[in-house]
Amino acid sequence: MKISVNKNRLQKEIDDLALITEASPPVVTRVLFSDADLRGRKFVKNLCRQAGLKIREDAVGNIFARWEGLQKKLPAVATGSHIDAIPNAGKYDGVVGVLGALEAIRALQAAGFQPKRSIELIIFTSEEPTRFGIGCLGSRLLGGVLALQKAGALRDRDGKNLEFWRKRGGCRGGLEFVKLPKNRYAAFVELHIEQGPILEREKIAIGVVEKIAAPSTLRIQLTGVGGHAGATLMPGRRDALLAGAEISLAVEHAAKNSGSPDTVGTTGIFQIEPGAVNSVPCKAHLEIDLRDTNVKTRDAALKKIESAVKQICKRRKIGLVMERLNLDPPAICDAKLVATTESVAKNLKFSVKRLVSRAYHDSLFMARVCPTTMIFIPCYKGYSHRPDEFSSPAQIEKGVRVLAETLAKLSAA
Ligand code: GLV
Ligand code: MN
Ligand code: MN
Repeated sequence: MKISVNKNRLQKEIDDLALITEASPPVVTRVLFSDADLRGRKFVKNLCRQAGLKIREDAVGNIFARWEGLQKKLPAVATGSHIDAIPNAGKYDGVVGVLGALEAIRALQAAGFQPKRSIELIIFTSEEPTRFGIGCLGSRLLGGVLALQKAGALRDRDGKNLEFWRKRGGCRGGLEFVKLPKNRYAAFVELHIEQGPILEREKIAIGVVEKIAAPSTLRIQLTGVGGHAGATLMPGRRDALLAGAEISLAVEHAAKNSGSPDTVGTTGIFQIEPGAVNSVPCKAHLEIDLRDTNVKTRDAALKKIESAVKQICKRRKIGLVMERLNLDPPAICDAKLVATTESVAKNLKFSVKRLVSRAYHDSLFMARVCPTTMIFIPCYKGYSHRPDEFSSPAQIEKGVRVLAETLAKLSAA
């Protein structure tokens, strides 16, 4: 079977989707169920329909586009990723795994391939944590990892809950129906840019993911005492920003001194109120991202951060509400599927390396429900979550070829 990927068509679609954004191009921002996200979903669904795929959507907005196999009842082979994008993002994160998977399916169709098992492209809801503070909302629910009660309690920063956004997103049915039944999928393979520098630096075309690092998120609300910046003298001030600043340094310290180079800690959100130059900050809102490939070192660093936060707030007489938004274990990819994907890449004469994913992905939760791995392609300087994120059409084409041949192999088994 001769599979040929139409890399120009794919690049055009990636470019067109990038124009659907809440920001000014080339910046991509598509937060869950914003107008841009809804238009992006429509754009992708149209392309899937044009390829003859059958579309289904679940109660949280996960989209399933299915190429029916000869044996409809066999567990399907799944692929996919996300199209939501954090503020100030680029156009490849997630999108390569969605539009690239669609291109893989179209390449297989054009080659005359007929799948035995159905092939499903999944576009996951809210892989990014922007709206609700936790990532992988759709895949968490598919994996049955997020309790329905917890999902119902999710609120965005304006206090709007998931129910509000589900309605706005046109989702139908109850969240209890999202969880995947056992044996729905025989395998899941996600194509993604590496979001790190290894493949580019080592001039390697394809990474095959063996493990996904363990993420966690802390949300912290600090309440101090505001007042006039000129008239409130320094002794006795209870400045919420200064407590937050100390907390951010404690995060850096805990990550740097965990004993493992794999611990990374980031205070990615730090907002203050009232935000006036002549007013002592009375409130601060922080969100902290802490990860490690090793869950023990991560958890030890997390405990150190939590205890530092309590001490800082006590010393500075600052009111504290601290919440663990998520604390996920790492995912181990399926050894057989990793070997299959690797051998597909080698047969195509592409250089391959097994990798750990330091970023999280929907694969983190799909790994709970079926054998899972990921195909990584290089990206410029490892940049991601920024507008100058870039992978070349030729690099993407190789990833799509590996994905197409892997899907063909898995769906024929
Ligand atoms: C995913 O976007 C992550 O933050 O790893
Ligand atoms: Mn991302
Ligand atoms: Mn992603």
